[in-house]
Formats: sequence, structure tokens, C-alpha cells
Amino acid sequence: MRWIIILLSSFIAFAATGKHFNGNGPFRKPHRIDDHPEDACRHPPHVSSSISETVATLNVSTTIYSTNEQITITWTSVSTVCHDDFIAIYFAEIPLTAACDYYDYEVVNKTQGSMSWQMINLRRPLEFRYYSRDHTCLGNYTFLAKSPVIQPRNYNEPTHIHLAYSDRIDQMFVSYLTNSSQYIPQCQYGLNPSSLNFRQNGTTTTYTASDMCEGKANTWGSRAFIDPGYMHTILLENLHPSTTYYYRVGTDEHGWSPINSFTNRPADKNEAVYMIAYGDMSLAPLAPGSQSTTDRVIARVQSTNVTCVLHLGDLSYAMGIAVQWDGFMNQIQPIAAHVPYMAAIGNHEYDHVLGGEKDPSGASGPGGFRPAWGDYLYDSRGECAIPMVHRFHSPSNGNSLFWYSFDVGPIHIIHFSTEHDFRRSSIQYAWLEQDLRSVNRSRTPWLIVGSHRPMYASIRDDSKDFDFIALMLQFHLEPLFYRYHVDVNLFAHRHSYDRTCPMYQRKCVSDGVTHVLIGMAGQDIDTGEYTGAEWSMYHDEVYGYCQLWANQTYLHFTYRHNIDDNIADQFVLQK
Ligand SMILES: *[C@@H]1O[C@H](CO)[C@@H](O)[C@H](O)[C@H]1NC(C)=O
Ligand SMILES: *[C@@H]1O[C@H](CO)[C@@H](O)[C@H](O)[C@H]1NC(C)=O
Ligand SMILES: *[C@@H]1O[C@H](CO)[C@@H](O)[C@H](O)[C@H]1NC(C)=O
Ligand SMILES: *[C@@H]1O[C@H](CO)[C@@H](O)[C@H](O)[C@H]1NC(C)=O
Ligand SMILES: *[C@@H]1O[C@H](CO)[C@@H](O)[C@H](O)[C@H]1NC(C)=O
Ligand SMILES: *[C@@H]1O[C@H](CO)[C@@H](O)[C@H](O)[C@H]1NC(C)=O
Ligand SMILES: *[C@@H]1O[C@H](CO)[C@@H](O)[C@H](O)[C@H]1NC(C)=O
Ligand SMILES: *[C@@H]1O[C@H](CO)[C@@H](O)[C@H](O)[C@H]1NC(C)=O
Ligand SMILES: [Fe+2]
Repeated sequence: MRWIIILLSSFIAFAATGKHFNGNGPFRKPHRIDDHPEDACRHPPHVSSSISETVATLNVSTTIYSTNEQITITWTSVSTVCHDDFIAIYFAEIPLTAACDYYDYEVVNKTQGSMSWQMINLRRPLEFRYYSRDHTCLGNYTFLAKSPVIQPRNYNEPTHIHLAYSDRIDQMFVSYLTNSSQYIPQCQYGLNPSSLNFRQNGTTTTYTASDMCEGKANTWGSRAFIDPGYMHTILLENLHPSTTYYYRVGTDEHGWSPINSFTNRPADKNEAVYMIAYGDMSLAPLAPGSQSTTDRVIARVQSTNVTCVLHLGDLSYAMGIAVQWDGFMNQIQPIAAHVPYMAAIGNHEYDHVLGGEKDPSGASGPGGFRPAWGDYLYDSRGECAIPMVHRFHSPSNGNSLFWYSFDVGPIHIIHFSTEHDFRRSSIQYAWLEQDLRSVNRSRTPWLIVGSHRPMYASIRDDSKDFDFIALMLQFHLEPLFYRYHVDVNLFAHRHSYDRTCPMYQRKCVSDGVTHVLIGMAGQDIDTGEYTGAEWSMYHDEVYGYCQLWANQTYLHFTYRHNIDDNIADQFVLQK
């Protein structure tokens, strides 16, 4: 009976996450899930190769673009516009018969004669095409018109620029992406935007479909794997604490990014720090709250000295659709090029069933940690963290991005993985215990742990009868966190906000751990039934983001709704 419940709940969870299986593109086109041509393309499409109608060519406002530039397409309306006519963007090399091999599309309506596209650099020649269904709008898709080929102004434009902490306080990772591995990536930086007189060289990496574990991630296609470009990373060193640096990345041969700036973290526990935290943001506008969170956080990092951002898993929700990573990295660049972006691993980056020998975390078995009591499924669609570990960086004191820790002023932060074995017998547990033991609480009075899946949530999960993973986290890790006086435990995965009293084993206690579920940053908000748990101090199901301000004696946590940027919940901890 127990097995049937687990199997059934697994199936339901799979079906629920399968909602985005077909995926939308990264060009910011809002789609409904029942949109055409999604429906037509979900079933094997038939495309007539004959061009049965003539439409004027699609005119474009420019054939050369930079990232985030708008291209306006204009055309003369056709005599019959079907309800699911669409204009979509393709690699120019894709055959005209492959109507459904687009990266993104917009449905065309009767009165329309133009539309606008916000571009991202996919490092290949692209074109727009107009498809319509023949035979009174019920038949196969027919190719009607295409635009001239459009190209990025610079195929090697530095894109996806982002920062991360490394092992030492004087270090900072600066990462970006281009289409080339031909030259050594460089960072020019300095204390003044007009004199970037320090230089540092970096390294380059990439990955291909066969580097990933299984399934869709292993498959080439417009809505599966495409060449992701080359990821460049430069490790800056000898940086002063609490100091603002200006920098740009690139090469003389391929061109340079605009100048960005960052402020290094303080070395001194007497300095206050200010962090932003959330999980499950995903890509806009596919995820309804993603753009509003991004906009609010961009405004914060521009107006305030934000020390760093914590993203507690489920980043792009690419799930094997490579271009979703391009869209996501472009979306977070205004945040992450300015403030270190410290990511933790989520099920949508990691969970897989097969291909374990390629799993960069070194977990044993074909699908890593898959105990019968957990709903560890196929949520990365085979990516098994390969796109994630090639893009994001972290200190190396644990196991890559899977578990690591770092200090930010008076706070020691540990990111760990709920997607890996965390039981008492595990290597992750041993690492957690030694890291917790080594924290010097006079150096870092505050101790925060962050991971992806909840240890506690006061909203019922409609997709399962029982959250065994939460119970196991309570059984194996809660005593450890309590023993080492962890102040705050942050997690996401459920798409809502939920804050507990300081607690231990389901009871509010004065020396307990405060748990905060912060999975409300973008992906479809959850609508579970509230259980009324006595330890739940505040919960809601609204898009928002969290801020955490701390000096050595005082920690102020706030949760703001995106809609008005007002504080919906807050708490203070004091030493
Ligand atoms: C498209 O461009 C061509 C050539 O410049 C022009 O003749 C035509 O009128 C344009 N069509 C539209 C719909 O703008
Ligand atoms: C058709 O497109 C035009 C121009 O984009 C837009 O203003 C209008 O609201 C659309 N109409 C419908 C019914 O979607
Ligand atoms: C659609 O295309 C398929 C394959 O080419 C063909 O067999 C079928 O007859 C076409 N249907 C219509 C309505 O044109
Ligand atoms: C972009 O990279 C691909 C793969 O490395 C290469 O084949 C292509 O020629 C490059 N494009 C340009 C314009 O350099
Ligand atoms: C970086 O690489 C360039 C090109 O190989 C080289 O000329 C330069 O000396 C290197 N700079 C540093 C700081 O290593
Ligand atoms: C941020 O910090 C810098 C350097 O410490 C300071 O000059 C600046 O006023 C601060 N900005 C804000 C918005 O607090
Ligand atoms: C802990 O940190 C304090 C303050 O920085 C320092 O004085 C002390 O020596 C450290 N203790 C250990 C065991 O390293
Ligand atoms: C920490 O911040 C609180 C609240 O602003 C303030 O009352 C307290 O004096 C500060 N403590 C230190 C050590 O700066
Ligand atoms: Fe998740």
C-alpha cells in the first residue's frame, strides 16, 4: 500500500512539473499553456512544403542586433488569418518544413501588421518566419514568409556576466559567455571606471549534449540541446574588503563588455551586511512572478549596497531546453554582474534517473540519491547539473555547488543539497557537521543554512499525501542544526512564503531555529491548504523576495511583495 501511494504521488508530481514540458522560448513572449501552435506542435506536426499563399516578406527594423535590442517586424496582412497563425524565430539553417523547431513564437491576429521582439544573442544567424494552417485553417502548417537573416552585431559579445565568491575574502569570480574559445578571457578592473589598470586572465569551458546524464538534455534540437557557447571565468585576487571595483570582461579581439561595478564583502564582523534571498525564480514571462521579482531586485541592488544574493535552487527551469539558460542568464545579468550571485542546487537543475557516471557531484548510482521514501524524479530532464556547474561558481570547501560555505561579514552561510544524501551516514552530513563545528561564533555570530527543499511548511502539498523528505530532514538534520545553534534555515521548492517561530521538533522554543520558506520568487505560486500549524508565524502565497540585514548583534529579516514592494512579514533576531 505504501508503495502504491509513493508511486501514485510520484506520478502526480511528475504530471504537475510536466506542465512546462513543452517549454517556451527565451525571447520574452508570453504564452498560455493552451496556446497554439503549442498544441499543434505537441503532436507530431505535418508541415506542407508547398508554398500555397504568397505573403509579402517579413520586414525587420534591423538585421543586426545587440542583446536586449528590440526588432520590429512588419508585414501586410494575409487574406485569411487563422487563429493559430504564428511568427516565430529560428536558426536560419532549420528547414522551412520544421515549423515547430522555433525558439519562441507569437500568435498573429487579424488586425496585426507588426510585432516587436526583444533579442538575446544565440550566437547563430536567425530568421523570423510566418506559418499559417491551410485548408480553412484546419490543415497542416504552411510556410508563408520569412525575414532576411538577422545576426548579432558581435557573435562574441560578452553576455551572461555574473559574479560569485570564491574561497578567500580577497577573491571574486567574474564569469561571462561568448561564442569563442580562441582567446584567453580577460578582466580589466580598477578602483575608478576611467582607469581599469589591473588585469587578470581566466579560463574557458563548455559542454555538449553527451556530457549530460540522459533524455532530453542529451538530444539536439531547438527546444532541447543547442551549442551553449563558451563559459569564461576569471578569478580576481588581492581585492580589498568593502571596496568598490569597476570592471569589464572580454578581449581586444572580440570586444569588451560595458563597465560594471561590485563592492567586495567586508572582512570585519563589525560591518553590517545586506543580502537578498529567494528560490524558484525561473524565466520571465514563462513564470508569472519572475519579471516582477527581477525588477524589484534590480531596483534594490541599484539603490542599496546589497552584499550578495542567495538563490536557493530552481534557477532557470530549463530542464533540457538549452536556450532557457540563455534567457535566464540574460535576465539576471543586471543583478548578478553587480552583486555576487550564490546559487544552491535544486531538483530542476539536478534530479535525474540515469547517466550517473556523468553526474558532476560524484553521487553514486545511475540517478544519485533516490530513496524509496523520496520523490526524487526526473526534474532536470537529464541535465544533472551540468549547465549549472559550468555557469555558476562557489567556494571549493565542500563539493562544488552542491555543498559549500562562506562568510559574509558577521554571517556564516552554508548551502547544502537536499537532492543528495543528507542522512547521518552520508558524506554530506559529515561535511556539514565538520563545517558547523568549525564556525567561530565570535567571528561570525550568525549562522544561516540554505538548501532547496523544505524542512517545514505549513501549507499542504496537493501533489502528495505526505512529505517524507521534510520528515527525513527533520529527523537527520534538524538535531544537528539545533545542536550547533543555527539561527535561520532557508529553503524553497514550494512556491510560497512561510516563516516559523524559533523551533525544535515541531515546538516553538526560545533557542530554536527559525525556518523560512522563500520559494515565492517567480514560478507558479502554490495554492495548498493551510494546515494552521502552531509554529507557523506567517504564510502567504504571493510573489515576492526577502532581504536580510545584519550586524553582529542584530538580524532583521524582511519579506516584501512584488506588487507594491511593501513589507508583508518581518522578524528580528538579537544576540
Ligand atoms: C517591406 O520592405 C519593402 C522593401 O523595402 C517595401 O517595398 C515594402 O513596402 C515593405 N513592406 C512593409 C509591410 O513594410
Ligand atoms: C491584435 O494585435 C494588436 C496589435 O498587436 C493588438 O493591439 C490587439 O489587441 C490584438 N487583438 C487581439 C484580439 O488579440
Ligand atoms: C498534412 O501533411 C501530411 C504529411 O505530409 C499529409 O499526409 C496530410 O494529408 C496533410 N493534411 C492536410 C489536411 O493537408
Ligand atoms: C560560433 O561557434 C560555432 C561553434 O564553435 C562555430 O561553428 C561558429 O563558426 C561560430 N560563429 C562565429 C560567427 O564565429
Ligand atoms: C593574459 O594573456 C595575454 C594573452 O595571452 C597575455 O599577453 C598577458 O600577459 C596575460 N596577462 C596576465 C596578467 O597573465
Ligand atoms: C554604498 O557604500 C559606499 C561605500 O561604502 C558608499 O559610498 C555609498 O554611499 C553606499 N550607498 C548606499 C546607497 O548606501
Ligand atoms: C575566533 O574569532 C575571534 C574573533 O575574531 C578570535 O579572537 C579567536 O581567536 C577565534 N578563535 C579561534 C578558536 O580561532
Ligand atoms: C546593530 O544594529 C542595531 C539596529 O540598527 C543597533 O541598535 C545596534 O547598536 C547595532 N550593533 C552594533 C554592534 O553595531
Ligand atoms: Fe524545486
